Amino acid sequence: MSKKICLIIGDPIDHSLSPVMHNAGYRALGIDSEYIFLKKRVGANETKKAINEMREKNYRGLTCTMPHKIEVMKYLDEIDNSAKKIGAVNTVINNNGRLKGYNTDWIGVAKSLEKITVLKNKKVALIGAGGASRAAIFGLSQEGAIITIFNRTLEKAEKLAKEFNCQAESIEDIEKIKDYDIIINATSIGMEPNSNLTPVSQKYLLKNQIVFDFIYNPLETRLLREAREVGAKTISGLEMLLYQGAKQFEYYTGRIAPLEAMRNGLMSNLDKLCKI
Ligand code: ATR
Repeated sequence: MSKKICLIIGDPIDHSLSPVMHNAGYRALGIDSEYIFLKKRVGANETKKAINEMREKNYRGLTCTMPHKIEVMKYLDEIDNSAKKIGAVNTVINNNGRLKGYNTDWIGVAKSLEKITVLKNKKVALIGAGGASRAAIFGLSQEGAIITIFNRTLEKAEKLAKEFNCQAESIEDIEKIKDYDIIINATSIGMEPNSNLTPVSQKYLLKNQIVFDFIYNPLETRLLREAREVGAKTISGLEMLLYQGAKQFEYYTGRIAPLEAMRNGLMSNLDKLCKI
């Protein structure tokens, strides 16, 4: 029997941890003779070609990362409503030649937080107004959180806030973050090689807050370290990667994802990231 192939496409892709995460899951369930998860570097103007290849070679699943999440939507047969509202697809399933797109990023955001808190009526300060923020706003508002978007370009935050019925603030007013239960960094501030940067000064972080950074390289960003130092609860981007991947795993295999095995798969390959 030939293996069912799942593939992550993106550019850059060398350091993607999705293959080790999914393959660890297949091994844990004893289905690694049935499934394999691969990666392929696919440049910005090759999205259509990659989808054609998925159809021709009958791949079971496709994970899309930068820069394909929006472009890929043009070439699919169907798109799930949540992905439509977010405006991005990170997961494609091939059901007998029919390709359907989903978004699991919003589930990754909600699940990471729901493990340690109840989101209903919580005040969330979301820093950033890009694609990652769109998925976060969708996931958080599904669960009844009250969201304010803080962004460098205020107009972008205002536009997004209007679309999703939430509030907008300029990042210049970041001291207001003291009034929030949950702080999320959905920008690239603090990512390697700029791990000395943080979007929020430590003096605005409080003990009773939850601080979630979507960045997973480094695993503990300056923001998370300083939050931990003041006694706040912290969540790293690795949790987001894990939970969005777990939902993909379920779409690809129809089985419940073995979370701990997948987390261990990620943790034992973190050294790959340091080289970025
Ligand atoms: P993604 O799709 O991963 O969310 P993106 O669409 O490029 O990435 O969005 C990046 C977000 O991070 C934006 O909100 C951006 O702010 P602007 O809208 O003002 O561009 C924010 N961002 C990135 N680098 C930043 C920096 N150095 N300071 C402040 N905000 C930054």
